[in-house]
Amino acid sequence: MNTESRILCKALQGRIMSAEQAASLVSSGVNVGMSGFTGSGYPKEVPTALAKRIEDANRAGEKFRIGVWTGASTAPELDGALAKADGVEMRLPYQSDPTCRKRINAGEMEYLDIHLSHVAQFVWFGFLGKLDIALVEVTGILEDGRLIPSSSVGNNKTWLDQADKVILEVNSWQSPRLEGMHDIYYGTNRPPHRQPIPIVRPQDRIGDLYLRCDPDKIIAVVETNSPDRNSAFSAPDENSQRIAGHIIEFLEHEVKKGRLPKELLPLQSGVGNIANAVMAGLNKGPFDNLTAYTEVVQDGMLEMIRSGKLISASATAFSLSDSALEELNNNIDIYREKIILRPQEISNHPEVIRRLGVIAMNGMIEADIYGNVNSTHVMGSSIMNGIGGSGDFARNGYLSIFMTPSQAKNGQISCIVPMTSHIDHTEHDVQILVTEQGLADLRGLSPNQRAKVIIENCAHPHFKPALEDYHKRAFDHSIGKHTPHLLDEALSWHQRFLNVGHM
Ligand code: COA
Repeated sequence: MNTESRILCKALQGRIMSAEQAASLVSSGVNVGMSGFTGSGYPKEVPTALAKRIEDANRAGEKFRIGVWTGASTAPELDGALAKADGVEMRLPYQSDPTCRKRINAGEMEYLDIHLSHVAQFVWFGFLGKLDIALVEVTGILEDGRLIPSSSVGNNKTWLDQADKVILEVNSWQSPRLEGMHDIYYGTNRPPHRQPIPIVRPQDRIGDLYLRCDPDKIIAVVETNSPDRNSAFSAPDENSQRIAGHIIEFLEHEVKKGRLPKELLPLQSGVGNIANAVMAGLNKGPFDNLTAYTEVVQDGMLEMIRSGKLISASATAFSLSDSALEELNNNIDIYREKIILRPQEISNHPEVIRRLGVIAMNGMIEADIYGNVNSTHVMGSSIMNGIGGSGDFARNGYLSIFMTPSQAKNGQISCIVPMTSHIDHTEHDVQILVTEQGLADLRGLSPNQRAKVIIENCAHPHFKPALEDYHKRAFDHSIGKHTPHLLDEALSWHQRFLNVGHM
């Protein structure tokens, strides 16, 4: 298919324009809902053209800023360019861009970090204010105006529905054979008119193949031919392999105990190298006929589909290396049978996650001896990325697993601490902690019992004596013995590491 033939709708052919012309239709002060999730399916050219416009306006002394709402993280051409131009008033929900992070932590940019399943409904409810413009990448436009989604779905359905005006980027770099992989569910309503979401297996299709949009709202169509931000995964290091090994051993134990079926339950795996290593471990592991109900399909999951270990995967986006993308594109007809991309309010829906009994596995920055988890803040005050979907899955999953190396910054910082410097997942939502040292199964344990198991199984030997000593003294001297703390000491634990820890 050539570039021209991707816009089949005659009415919209007249609205084709350059990225610069489209950017000129965006004015200061508006909220823009952009596509994009973990570096895939984000608009590639209009944000960069907009950043240039903002830079020019700022140089001329006019303050030009917009609200940037997305599915999740995007790429340097979007988050990086707009943050560099100082053009973002409010960013939500999840980002992982270094320039954005710097501005947020310097207090120069507002950032609202919310559960990914909440975003769409908060917009429908009117909780976040008005959405003025949707800026969405698609793979093509059909004759009747329906849109072929791209390599991520994210919040696109909501942006196209809720925004007053729509700008489309039609990216001919995306494989036209993505068509047929998506499942766009239009049955979600506001309370009190909600109906059950009819997914009972990860592979269930319940919606349409295409996104809908009122053609009258489309003010610009921009043709692009630019790659997603594909990034290579590092080969699993020793720590990641050990973490993966502990998790697989635990899952085998659960099968033996009759608490999990032999094909397990649908897997959710967070982003990054450890998550990828866990998938690599499962690919060589003893389980067959696995399924996934997750956010992102990374390299490891693609390999599991290829090997036949994973029979289906439901997600909202791809996040692949170049080589995995080539593999996907070369065999896309096979993968299309096994992979479904859904809106993120469905991929992360608490009702569905609870019904399916998802095994949630996510990374963390630190956990405390009682099982509270910090996924987002370094040294209590600097944001790293955001909570992403970890809370959607941890709260509602059948099992909620959090993992990290036991130490950070070359062994100078313990990732097991007396009291987390920030809490994203409370002790009530965390069942299993894993480091390369071992696994702590916290189910059914009181806070003091949890503290013993976490320190014994997960802390690095270098920090273990200090943590044991803290817990013992806290128990002896704290007024309340249920969750004993010496508050001054617990709160000052991180002070010692401020110089090495901060971003
Ligand atoms: N104290 C200080 N810094 C720490 C730290 C700690 N306890 N633990 C990690 N860090 C630093 C690392 O040193 C590293 O810094 P660097 O980039 O300067 O080297 C950085 O944090 C990232 O750590 P890394 O070990 O590379 O972690 P990761 O890539 O596995 O990511 C999270 C871990 C928690 C940041 C990541 O999983 C995340 O953003 N999670 C929240 C969202 C989520 O769970 N999404 C999935 C849901 S579907």
